[in-house]
Amino acid sequence: MREHHRSTRLFGSLLLVAAAGLSSVAAVPSGQEAATTPAPTPLGQVIPAPASAVPGGSAYEINSKTRIRVDDSRDARQIGSYLAGVLRPSTGYALNVTDDEGRDGIRLRLASKDKSLGDEGYRLESKSGSVTITARKAAGLFYGVQTLRQHLPAAAEKKTKQAGPWLIAGGTIEDKPRYEYRGAMLDVSRHFFSVDKVKRYIDQMSLYKVNKLHLHLSDDQGWRIAIDSWPKLAEYGGSTQVGGGKGGYYTKAQYKEIIAYASARQLEVIPEIDMPGHTNAALASYAELNCNGVAPPLYTGTEVGFSSLCVKKDVTYDFVDDVIRELAAMTPGKYIHIGGDEAHSTSHEDYVAFMNKVQPVVAKYGKTAIGWHQLTGATPAKGALAQYWGYDATSAAEREQVANAAKNGTKLVLSPADRAYMDMKYNKDTPLGLAWAGYVEVRRSYDWDPGTYLTGAPADSIQGVEAPLWSETIWESRHIEYMAFPRLPGIAELGWSPASTHDWDKYKVRLAAQGPRWDAMGMDYYKSPQVPWPSK
Ligand code: ACM
Repeated sequence: MREHHRSTRLFGSLLLVAAAGLSSVAAVPSGQEAATTPAPTPLGQVIPAPASAVPGGSAYEINSKTRIRVDDSRDARQIGSYLAGVLRPSTGYALNVTDDEGRDGIRLRLASKDKSLGDEGYRLESKSGSVTITARKAAGLFYGVQTLRQHLPAAAEKKTKQAGPWLIAGGTIEDKPRYEYRGAMLDVSRHFFSVDKVKRYIDQMSLYKVNKLHLHLSDDQGWRIAIDSWPKLAEYGGSTQVGGGKGGYYTKAQYKEIIAYASARQLEVIPEIDMPGHTNAALASYAELNCNGVAPPLYTGTEVGFSSLCVKKDVTYDFVDDVIRELAAMTPGKYIHIGGDEAHSTSHEDYVAFMNKVQPVVAKYGKTAIGWHQLTGATPAKGALAQYWGYDATSAAEREQVANAAKNGTKLVLSPADRAYMDMKYNKDTPLGLAWAGYVEVRRSYDWDPGTYLTGAPADSIQGVEAPLWSETIWESRHIEYMAFPRLPGIAELGWSPASTHDWDKYKVRLAAQGPRWDAMGMDYYKSPQVPWPSK
C-alpha cells in the first residue's frame, strides 16, 4: 500500500520537475521507454531549513565507485559508517568508508579550527565529483549528513535496492542552530516502550537534528528505571501501566544501551523523575514514603494530581538522594529533570520546601536541574532550566511568574501545550491523543516564534524548544509516529532554523516532501489536509 506505482511515480516526478523549474532527461538503456527523472531536490529544501544555502554548479551523483572519505578520527569514521549503513541497502553500492585522502566522493572533514561553524554547525559543498561536509565537531558532521540524506530521493531510505540516480544539487550550505536545546520527550511511564521502540523514535527524531531526548521515567502509573538501592521501584512500581497492562522497566544495562544509541546520533538523554507529585508508583512500592505509612495500590487510570511524596519525612530525602545519585552515575549528559508539575496534593509551602531541597541534590551529583515551569513558584537554582508547558488558557499571573524568573536569569525551554505537545489531537476525529489544550493542527504547531512567544521573557532566556509526547493513549511505534509526524519536524525547525526562514507556505512544501521519505521508512503519519502531499 505504501509503494508508489510506476505511473503515479512518473506523474509525481513531473510535478516535482515543474515545481523546481528544472528538468533532466535520464539516459535509459535502449529498448526501454525514455522517462523524465526528477531534478534533484533543490539545494536547501530540507527540514530544518538551513541558515544559508547558495545553489550553483553541477550536482553530485553517488555511484557504484563512490567512497566515503573520512578524517582519521573515531567520530568521523563512526558517522561515515552510519551514512553508509543508511545508503547501502537502497543504492546497492559498496560505499566503502576510508581514511585515504582524496578529492572525490563523499568527504567528511572535522576541521576543528573553523570557529564560524560553532559546536553544531557544518558546511556542505556539493559539486560534480564530490560532496564535502566540514564541521568542527562530530555533531556538525552528523547534522551535515542528515542534510545530505534529505537531498537524496525518498527511495534512498528503503531497505531494498532501488533505481537511482542519486543526485545532490550543486552549491554550498552553511548551517548552524538557532538554539542549543532542541528536544523531544517520550513518556515511557503511562505506557512502557521497549528499548527497540525508543531506538526507532531516536532514529526518526535524529533526521531533524533534535539533540535532546527527555525520558519521562516515572509517574503515577509506572516507575521505569532500575534503582539498586530501592529495587521495588522498578520491580513492583514498574509492573503495570495505563489500562492495566504489564508495564516494564529498563535495567541499568538497557538504559545505558539507549544512551549509547542516542549518543551515536548526537542526542543527549535527559532522565526525568517527576516529584513530588506524579509519584504513586513509588508510593505504592514503599510504604515508608507515605506520610501515613500506608502504601496505596498501583494505579492504572489517567487522573493527575492525587499523589505526593511526604515532604516532612527524612526518608523522602534519602530516597531522592539515592535515586538521583544512581541516575546521575549512569547519565553522561548535563541534566536531570525533577518534574515538579501538577503537585496538587502538596501544599504550596511544602512544594517550595521540597523543590528547594531537591535541586541541591542534583547539583551535588554534578548535574543541572530542569523542572516543569511550576519550579518558578519555588526558587530555581542557579543554572536550572524551567520548561514552560502553558498554553493560551494559562493565566497571566502564571505566565508572568515564568517571565519574571526568566528576567532573573532562569533559562527557559518552551513546550507550549497547544503548539508543542505531540499528544494533542489534530482535530476532533483524531483517534489517539488528548484535547485538554485544544486541537493542534500542523500549522498551529509550527506557526509561532520561540523568541517572542512568552511576553516579558527576554529573547536570550530561551534555551530552546521541546516536543513532549505523553502516552496515556499510545503504546505502539505507529502511535508515536502518527502523533509526532508531521508535527515534530516543525518544532525541530523552530529550534534550529533562523527566524528569518520562518514561512508556513514555504515550510509546508518542504514538509510535504517528507511524506514519501516516511513512506519509504515504513513510518505512519497523519496526512494533514494542510500539507500539499505529493500525489501518488
Ligand atoms: C505536564 O504536562 N503535566 C507537564
